Amino acid sequence: MSRSLRRSLLGRNFLSLVDYSPEEFRYLIRLSMDYKLGRRSEEPLKGKTVALIFEKPSTRTRVSISVAINELGGYPLELPIKALQVSRGETLKDTALVLSRYVHAIAARVKKHETLIELARWADIPVINMLSDKFHPLQALADVMTMKEIFEDKKLKVAFVGDGGANTSHSLMLASALQGYHHVVACPPEYQPDPSVLDRAEEIASRTGGLIEVIEDPKKAVKQANVIYTDTWVSMGVPDAERRMEVFPPYQVNKTLVSLAERHVIVMHCQPWFLGQEITEEVAYGPHSVAFEQAENRLHTAKAVLRAIMVP
Ligand code: CP
Ligand code: NVA
Repeated sequence: MSRSLRRSLLGRNFLSLVDYSPEEFRYLIRLSMDYKLGRRSEEPLKGKTVALIFEKPSTRTRVSISVAINELGGYPLELPIKALQVSRGETLKDTALVLSRYVHAIAARVKKHETLIELARWADIPVINMLSDKFHPLQALADVMTMKEIFEDKKLKVAFVGDGGANTSHSLMLASALQGYHHVVACPPEYQPDPSVLDRAEEIASRTGGLIEVIEDPKKAVKQANVIYTDTWVSMGVPDAERRMEVFPPYQVNKTLVSLAERHVIVMHCQPWFLGQEITEEVAYGPHSVAFEQAENRLHTAKAVLRAIMVP
């Protein structure tokens, strides 16, 4: 079982969970847990370099993946977009073809998801999404790992409250579908998930026993929820910050909203958070919050992805 999963993951891109099966996703979570428990101490990336391209700021992703590569014995080569010739008009095609001659994988945080698709089209090494406007799969993997550490194999109700069209919302919805969870997105009508991502999540959920819903009412969404998840109302690069600040306030995750959920609900946030906007300080640092566990798990999940797609 594991051997065939290992074979199927080797050499793959990690651009979106759309491309991953429930078994492959579970395998990556198990491997992440092994890394966390210190069960794997070998250095499988010894002699290998991973190019890390950043078109946007990052703290958790930058540091977790760099430390993961280092602890696996490899070298993280950080490439801010401005330092590359692509910033002067060189094509992504040539960038991918050239990097493929030097390094063993490319990880990129990009403004447009299409940039990752173009890099992956021309690279003959794996390409990893470190966040795009559409998806944040490394985050969702760490999120589900965190849920499973707490709830083990229980079938959960997950309520995502806020910007349904955010990268984190899309990836978490797909992750919930892969896990067979009941996933409810509560968002304003104009900030719903991308219909193609929603269709795909519903299609996966129909096979895993999950259920995906998109509604407007945050109170209804959190009823009996085991997990409340939120993210910034104004993701990096969105053009309509002012409009968002008008429509999102009813979606704040505060003590009152948390009190409507299941008694042992956990509150999750990918961070960075904007306290007093999508989440109150009291909830962010309160007893239900597991945001720093999520952040820690980014390290273990990054190792699992690198190991699985880069090492035979
Ligand atoms: N959650 C997350 O991706 O954080 P950074 O933007 O700091 O990498
Ligand atoms: N949705 C947020 C996530 C940050 C980690 C953004 O894209 O800015």
